[in-house]
Amino acid sequence: MVSLVARNLMKCYTSVPAVEDVSFSLRSGEVLGCLGPNGSGKSTTVRMLIGLSDPTRGEVLFGGKNIRMNLVAYRKLVGYVPEEANLYPFLSGLEYLELVGTLRGMDEPTLRKRIDSMLELFSLHPHRHSAVGSYSKGMRQRILLIAALLDDPELLIFDEPLSGLDVTSALIVKNLIKLLGERGKAVFYCSHVLEVVEKVCSHVMILRKGRVLAQGSADDLRQAAGQSSLEHAFVHLVEDRDATQTARDLADAMATA
Ligand SMILES: Nc1ncnc2c1ncn2[C@@H]1O[C@H](COP(=O)(O)OP(=O)(O)O)[C@@H](O)[C@H]1O
Ligand SMILES: [Mg+2]
Repeated sequence: MVSLVARNLMKCYTSVPAVEDVSFSLRSGEVLGCLGPNGSGKSTTVRMLIGLSDPTRGEVLFGGKNIRMNLVAYRKLVGYVPEEANLYPFLSGLEYLELVGTLRGMDEPTLRKRIDSMLELFSLHPHRHSAVGSYSKGMRQRILLIAALLDDPELLIFDEPLSGLDVTSALIVKNLIKLLGERGKAVFYCSHVLEVVEKVCSHVMILRKGRVLAQGSADDLRQAAGQSSLEHAFVHLVEDRDATQTARDLADAMATA
């Protein structure tokens, strides 16, 4: 059973905190959606969760222990899809995945089999020998996803994993995230896309200006906001205004002489 706990996380790049007092827990079988507009602190939170950046205050506990105590071992257990694809451009897709699998200590036959089937499933097999630098954003994103899933990790952390994906791949990944939760993985999923979060997450945390605005099961949040869909609840909580009305006002403004 995996348990990831964030305790009062705070991160300051400047005098204004990018993340302030973020706390949550995530267990096996849960998909926690971290929802918030751009700049609300999602990626900053993720970087602290995987130990890429030190919290200014607070701590991240994995299995009850601060991840700092054994960061190398901890990172091996986490599948992480970063927001930006920084892949070594001269490696082929296949070489990159082989490198990741080897660094993760996977045995060669398993590694080969998994790479082969996952490249096939993500429609990348015909491009496996091409340099990653020649890939489109969507192709690089799919390589990152495969790299995160390859080792069958118990904890998965996705930062905007659908960005740049074509419609079909996005649908596959959406379904996959839900399925991973159902199969007992612990998933932390960041997105500014509400509709996806509503469909795949068991729990939701809404960030605004680095602070947790609301937190709970998707149903709890809908009820708390008194709205039928999470999308309405989200706009209500984050924007504190009615999106339908704003759209109408905009359309009216366009037509005003
Ligand atoms: N490395 C950094 N140095 C300085 N400021 C940063 C850095 N990373 C993020 N920020 C700032 O922190 C805030 C939160 O950013 P971020 O965590 O990327 O939000 P999100 O992922 O929700 O879009 C933003 O105001 C952003 O400009
Ligand atoms: Mg981000």
